[in-house]
Amino acid sequence: MESSTTTLPGGTWTRGGLALTRFGYGAMQLAGPGVMGPPADHDAALGVLQEAAASGVTHIDTSGAYGPRITNQLIREALYPYPDGLHLATKVGAERDEQDGWPTAREPEQLRRAVGENLETLGLDTLDLVYFRAGDAQGTVPGPVAAALETLAELQQEGLIRHLGVSNVLPEQVAEARSVASIVAVQNMYNLAFRRDDALIDSLARDGIAYVPFFPLGGFSPLQSAALSAVAARLGTTPMSVALAWLLQRSPNILLIPGTSSAAHLRENISGASLELSAGDVTELDSIGG
Ligand SMILES: NC(=O)c1ccc[n+]([C@@H]2O[C@H](COP(=O)([O-])OP(=O)(O)OC[C@H]3O[C@@H](n4cnc5c(N)ncnc54)[C@H](OP(=O)(O)O)[C@@H]3O)[C@@H](O)[C@H]2O)c1
Repeated sequence: MESSTTTLPGGTWTRGGLALTRFGYGAMQLAGPGVMGPPADHDAALGVLQEAAASGVTHIDTSGAYGPRITNQLIREALYPYPDGLHLATKVGAERDEQDGWPTAREPEQLRRAVGENLETLGLDTLDLVYFRAGDAQGTVPGPVAAALETLAELQQEGLIRHLGVSNVLPEQVAEARSVASIVAVQNMYNLAFRRDDALIDSLARDGIAYVPFFPLGGFSPLQSAALSAVAARLGTTPMSVALAWLLQRSPNILLIPGTSSAAHLRENISGASLELSAGDVTELDSIGG
């Protein structure tokens, strides 16, 4: 039976059968250096995934391109048969090459193959949430997204995908995607210090669409700011905790997928995200990205 109650900070965001805890988990950094190859500590990686699920997390973010295939294989090894209510979100639209790059892979047959590979590596008959990842390794790139969404909508019709999202997208690409298919989530780079999507987040919130910030803690370059450190010190906590709590308070459609390869950090992040920031704290923190 699917449960939508959680003690995790932020509660659960629900739409059309998807009940995602707003505190989720991003699996990308479980792969080896440069998001290539296996993790340094295989058992620790399995342990983090198991602890996330045991903590009640129902939203794990992955991609066949991570490793490649490595994070999907770890998720399956750690959690299969999957607990009721767990939703795995994956991305298609990029592959990996021999130079550790992320070449785009958006032709219909490439998207179909990627969906098939995700199904196989995760051990699923249907993928709950598939993002079309636009842009490139450097970020968003203007250009059409409709053709890719049409292919993914066909796969949805065929019963291989339940829900569609878009990632690494500009606001006009979100609008274009929505003209082709029903989009339930947008996953873009956003954190206390990088706030290009402020207006987009608010408009998605009005339309009941989730916004999933990647690099919530700064990604490969941890967030560093004197204002953030000052607020954290005053509240007796860590900058990471403040950054996560700020995101949860920023908008009810924001879903967290912080990554960590450490069970201790996972626990710290769950507890830290429940911090209540005062209006004064928020004003001070808002100045960082302003
Ligand atoms: N759509 C896209 O194009 C895209 C791009 C990038 C990422 N993503 C998704 O977004 C998710 C989140 O991004 P991310 O994992 O790269 O970045 P992140 O969540 O911003 O930061 C992860 C980093 O923060 C560290 N960290 C986590 N908790 C910590 C704590 N309590 N104290 C100190 N350090 C801590 C981790 O190191 P430890 O391992 O040592 O804890 C890791 O190096 C990814 O896992 C992936 O699923 C999507």
